[in-house]
Amino acid sequence: MYPLAAAKPNARYIGEIYSTSSCRDRRSVLEPQNIRFVYPDEASVDVPLDSLAALDLGDRVLLDDDSLEWLEAAGQKHQRHGLAGRVLGIDHLATRVLAGEREDALLEYLTMVPYYFWGAYNIAEMNSSTNVTRHPSIGDEKQSPARVFTANNTPSYLNSFDNLPMPTEDFVRNYGRRMHHIAYEVVDGDIEGEKNVDFVVDVLRDLGIPFLADVVGECTDQPNLKQIFSKASPYSLLITEYVERCQGYDGFFTRDNVAALTAAAGEAERYRHGQVFD
Ligand SMILES: [Fe+2]
Repeated sequence: MYPLAAAKPNARYIGEIYSTSSCRDRRSVLEPQNIRFVYPDEASVDVPLDSLAALDLGDRVLLDDDSLEWLEAAGQKHQRHGLAGRVLGIDHLATRVLAGEREDALLEYLTMVPYYFWGAYNIAEMNSSTNVTRHPSIGDEKQSPARVFTANNTPSYLNSFDNLPMPTEDFVRNYGRRMHHIAYEVVDGDIEGEKNVDFVVDVLRDLGIPFLADVVGECTDQPNLKQIFSKASPYSLLITEYVERCQGYDGFFTRDNVAALTAAAGEAERYRHGQVFD
C-alpha cells in the first residue's frame, strides 16, 4: 500500500516481549480494557516455552557452515575494529503514527505495559511531536528501553493550509505506520581525543554503513547528548540510532537534536513523485 515500503512487503518489526508473573492475571486485568488476546480456538496459546517444540513452528532451520562463517566473520569484524564494548544495548525504540492516532497509540501502550508518559518534545518547525514513555522503576534505560511515539501536530490533510514541513507524517504516508528506528547507547568516553560516538560512526562509515547526516549535539564541558541516524536498512527498513550521553547527562533527548534528526530523516524519506499521473 505504501510507495516506499512496497518493495519490501514482508519487512516489519513485530514487537517486544514483556515478562509477567501470571499470564492469566494479566489477561483478566487487560480484557476489561478491551485489549484482545489470541484465544485457543484461533491459535494455540499458553504453551510452555521451555522448548520451542511446543509451538509447532515447523522444521528447525540449521545454518550451514557457509552461513555460520558469515556470522562469525561479522562478529570478528566488530571486535577487530574496536567496536566491542563501545556500542551497548537498546536505549529506545521509536514508532511513527498519524496525528489523529497519537493519543490512541500512547493510551493503548500505557494500558498494556507498566510504562508511564514521561513527556513530549514539540518541534513546531518540523510540525512534529516526540512523545516518550518509560519504565518507572529502572535506573538504566537498557533494562527496559523507552518507547517513543512521534506524530504530526497538524495532520497532512490540513497541512495544505499551513504548508509546514511534515517529515513525520510523510514517513507514515510513504512507509505505513511502523517503527522508525532503534537507538543503541554508546558508552561515554574518548578514544584518541575523539568522542566514542564519533569513533564508532567513523569506523562504520569506513566499513560502508551509510548515515543520514553528521553527528548532532556537542559534548563539551556541559552534560549533553550526541546522536546520529544511520540510513534505513534495506533489509528491515529500520534506521539505527547511536546515542552517547556526555558528562553524565541524565536527560533523555534534547530538543535541538530531535529537530535535527527529524529533519535529516525526513529528507531521505520523501517520495519523489513522477511527472505523469500524480
Ligand atoms: Fe531516537
